[in-house]
Amino acid sequence: MTGLFITLEGPEGAGKSTNREYLAERLRAAGIEVLLTREPGGTPLAERIREVLLAPIDEVMNPDTELLLVFAARAQHLAQVIRPALARGAVVLCDRFTDSTYAYQGGGRGLSVERIAALETFVQGDLRPDLTLVFDLPVEIGMARASARGRLDRFELEDRLFFDAVRSAFLARAKADPARYLLVDAAQPLAQVQRALDALVPTLLERHRG
Ligand SMILES: Nc1ncnc2c1ncn2[C@@H]1O[C@H](COP(=O)(O)OP(=O)(O)O)[C@@H](O)[C@H]1O
Ligand SMILES: [Mg+2]
Repeated sequence: MTGLFITLEGPEGAGKSTNREYLAERLRAAGIEVLLTREPGGTPLAERIREVLLAPIDEVMNPDTELLLVFAARAQHLAQVIRPALARGAVVLCDRFTDSTYAYQGGGRGLSVERIAALETFVQGDLRPDLTLVFDLPVEIGMARASARGRLDRFELEDRLFFDAVRSAFLARAKADPARYLLVDAAQPLAQVQRALDALVPTLLERHRG
């Protein structure tokens, strides 16, 4: 039995949380320990960093400050939650991870891939997700689903250009490494998305058995 680290990525409103629950149920039905978590956050301290990252403030947050806060929260989350869970053989389903850093702080804020990759290695060593589901959605649908949910956070307040860059970064990463990424068309009806996840479950069970 080996731990499996699965991350769910994509813009707000793409269905990450909905499908994380769905996948968790399918895996738990097979008797596997599944840990649901999210970034930024996942521990009490990391959730406090999340609040700092998401709360709109009357001061421009320097992009490097934002990047360092994201990775500070991640270091805490890895040490307290993710690494211990993987070590005991759990499947970890994490809502957002470092691909979101490449998409938002890289694509959106314009920070270089090299800068992000250096911190990725510093904080994660060689730990990378075993599988990353990228829920892809046209920008206007995601923005509409986010607005419908109420008050917008510091990222959701960004403009169309920002979200175009976020989407492009996710797509580029998924296309560059088809062995690690599964691109999911999140504009399909939910039932169809979940059929794609059903097809994945046997492979996951097999990989978990090791
Ligand atoms: N494929 C889909 N088609 C239509 N609506 C969806 C789909 N996936 C999710 N939704 C709906 O969109 C909203 C946002 O989904 P959610 O899972 O919270 O997204 P995220 O966690 O990525 O922000 C929810 O109301 C959810 O029911
Ligand atoms: Mg969500």
